[in-house]
Amino acid sequence: MSAVDTERREALEAAGAGRSVAEVGDRTGAESSAAVKRRYVRRMFSEIAPTYDLLNRLLSFNIDGRWRRRAIDMLGWERRPRGVYLDACAGTLDMSAELSRRPGFQGTVVAADFAEAMLRAGRPKGGAAVQAVVADALELPLGNDSVDGAMVGFGVRNFADIDVGLRELARVLKPGARLVVLDCSAPPSRVVRMVYQVYFRQLLPLVGRIVSGHRTAYRYLPESVAHFPPAPELAARLERAGLERVTYETLTFGVTAVHCAERPAAGSR
Ligand SMILES: C[S@@+](CC[C@H](N)C(=O)[O-])C[C@H]1O[C@@H](n2cnc3c(N)ncnc32)[C@H](O)[C@@H]1O
Repeated sequence: MSAVDTERREALEAAGAGRSVAEVGDRTGAESSAAVKRRYVRRMFSEIAPTYDLLNRLLSFNIDGRWRRRAIDMLGWERRPRGVYLDACAGTLDMSAELSRRPGFQGTVVAADFAEAMLRAGRPKGGAAVQAVVADALELPLGNDSVDGAMVGFGVRNFADIDVGLRELARVLKPGARLVVLDCSAPPSRVVRMVYQVYFRQLLPLVGRIVSGHRTAYRYLPESVAHFPPAPELAARLERAGLERVTYETLTFGVTAVHCAERPAAGSR
């Protein structure tokens, strides 16, 4: 098998992983595919870091900023403007920068990502309020009940185990604090879904490969979206992770969804 075939196979395997051990059933198999996914995702984002922002703007027709702004609107940071907020899977710091620049925000954003190259590429965007930390979202270096809110932009889809990741995010939230998850979703309309599939499976991998020079990253992207739970299922999994008041809204014909959930207030757990 050629190196190109091996890379492609690894990308497809990584995209299909991320289901929970309970869901997959085979503990040994699930653990090894989770390890493959973690390694692939970390390496792939490190490699595409220099062109990540340019491709995001290009491939989303510059709508991605609007999606992130909507997610931050739902975080409820105004309740504690001096608080500590986690941006898990912070990448090139778009979500962190957006929150830290909101008028009235006086808190701190802990921007965690396991691909250091992504954090470095985003460094010019992060001001004094943003503290970048190289960390795995599935093993956060944060105490229980330690943050006033958390957000994940286009990151949960990449978790080696989605349920472990959601439980870890729930663990670090203070009682009453919110988690906001922004990610790709399957559009409900059949017509939109067809157009989207052509774009996502044909055009996007081609443009992505030409601009980034990476052979598999923009093949992994549509595959990982295809394996990601639909919005109602993700809502149920947020509840299973111990969160409540779970709501979600879909954006731009349903190609993305923002979920919002709260850690139960103290005494009601
Ligand atoms: C698609 S990018 C999103 C970056 C940013 N949040 C945004 O909105 O553009 C996904 C990021 O998640 C990071 N990531 C994926 N799994 C992770 C994990 N388990 N722990 C920490 N970072 C992770 C990747 O390194 C990458 O930077």
